[in-house]
Amino acid sequence: MAESLTIDAALSKEEKYKSLLPQIEALVAGETDLIANISNLVAALKQAMGFFWVGVYFNKEGQLVLGPFQGSVACTRIPYHKGVCGACYTQQQTILVPDVEAFPGHIACSSDSKSEIVVPVLKDGEVKLVLDVDSDKLNDFDKIDQQYLEQLMKLVASWY
Ligand code: SME
Repeated sequence: MAESLTIDAALSKEEKYKSLLPQIEALVAGETDLIANISNLVAALKQAMGFFWVGVYFNKEGQLVLGPFQGSVACTRIPYHKGVCGACYTQQQTILVPDVEAFPGHIACSSDSKSEIVVPVLKDGEVKLVLDVDSDKLNDFDKIDQQYLEQLMKLVASWY
């Protein structure tokens, strides 16, 4: 099991994602505990990509409940119909928000958060969890983030 990450800070965003994916696969190899693996995945994303806030909300008890994350304290429970996370849950697809203030119903866990991407983990037609990434810069996420984070969430779906 690999317990460290090697990501060259000089790489482009896409190169960082490409380098990160196999390292995350190595990190979780041999471990079957979902929370342990998601915790390391989230930490790896924070470390490699330098995200302002990154974490998951589980579909649990009829709402979205905070799971492993890296960043400042966050709201613990989000109703299915609320916020960007709720939109991701109900639409069962990635939601890219270039400016959180322009997104109706956005839930501000931190006033420093300016843009956001939320990606679902889908298994058998159900959203198991959503990955939420926040940035303190406007318009900080694009199709590259979407492509690689969706690929990562397919890996997470395989853990269920
Ligand atoms: N902004 C999210 C809430 C979660 S925090 O950003 C960590 C939303 O609108 O669903």
